[in-house]
Amino acid sequence: MRAVNASTGTGPGSGPVRPALGPLLPAADIADVAEAFHRAAPSARRWDVESSIAWEVADAGRLTDGQASAVQFITLIEDHLPGYIGVYERAFPLDEDVDLETFIHNRELYHFTIRWGFEEDTHARALFRYQVASGLADPASLRRELAVEGRKPFELPHDHAVSLLAYALVQEKATQIYYQQLRAVVGDPVLADVLGYLARDEARHFAFLADVVERYLRLYGDAVVEPIREVVAQFRMPLADTIRGYWRWALRIADTARYDHTDAYGHLIRIVNHAVDARTDRVDELVRFVDACRSTTAGAPS
Ligand SMILES: [Fe+2]
Ligand SMILES: [Fe+2]
Repeated sequence: MRAVNASTGTGPGSGPVRPALGPLLPAADIADVAEAFHRAAPSARRWDVESSIAWEVADAGRLTDGQASAVQFITLIEDHLPGYIGVYERAFPLDEDVDLETFIHNRELYHFTIRWGFEEDTHARALFRYQVASGLADPASLRRELAVEGRKPFELPHDHAVSLLAYALVQEKATQIYYQQLRAVVGDPVLADVLGYLARDEARHFAFLADVVERYLRLYGDAVVEPIREVVAQFRMPLADTIRGYWRWALRIADTARYDHTDAYGHLIRIVNHAVDARTDRVDELVRFVDACRSTTAGAPS
């Protein structure tokens, strides 16, 4: 797989093509899906870090070592948001690097991206707050620890718009599943509340991306099969190549709850099946490939 670390991936000919390559969905399609995304979280259903969680009773003493480790791990992943947003800014620019039609598409996508970014930043703030309120970390050391990883460059090894969106789809679903599994076992009910809110948000992020990828398949069929296949062939969770000791860490937290991106592949197969009425050889091959990539051993990094 090509390096995710942008320090080795941005040289001429070695890094991803920016802006992202088409095909792009018509702007009206993106607008429809973004509207549905906003409708799915009306103000009455929103939560916030300040008032939705009983921070005063958070207690890391109720967590096992594995659970505490899992919280530290997901805090790092969520806190890397500026790196993730940077990918979208480069891939879907809103300036003169793109022609008018592409700008119109990117402007519609931005209605999703900006809200998504706000929600992911809320996740980072909630996990930071949990660590401090529960006694797991002191704020100054945690800020510094997050900065060590946060300042590392982040890039995805994909050139096509549909690949970037399919990557995010898998990642959102894998994260949602992980938060639900972790929520079911953690000893501190305050952490369970946090994870419940996070999982709900990730489910909505996934729903947006699922709708987008489904429309890509409907509209472009075989032409987008390879860019989607590439995502599955090369998949790594974000930061897998930059966090020090990532795999050791991933294996340690696997005893607590399984963090396995291949859990999301069944959902990807459903999207493909739903989108494509007349199956072609290429689509069949994609489904077989995604299915073969599903992990059968709990917790094994792949
Ligand atoms: Fe998140
Ligand atoms: Fe998310």
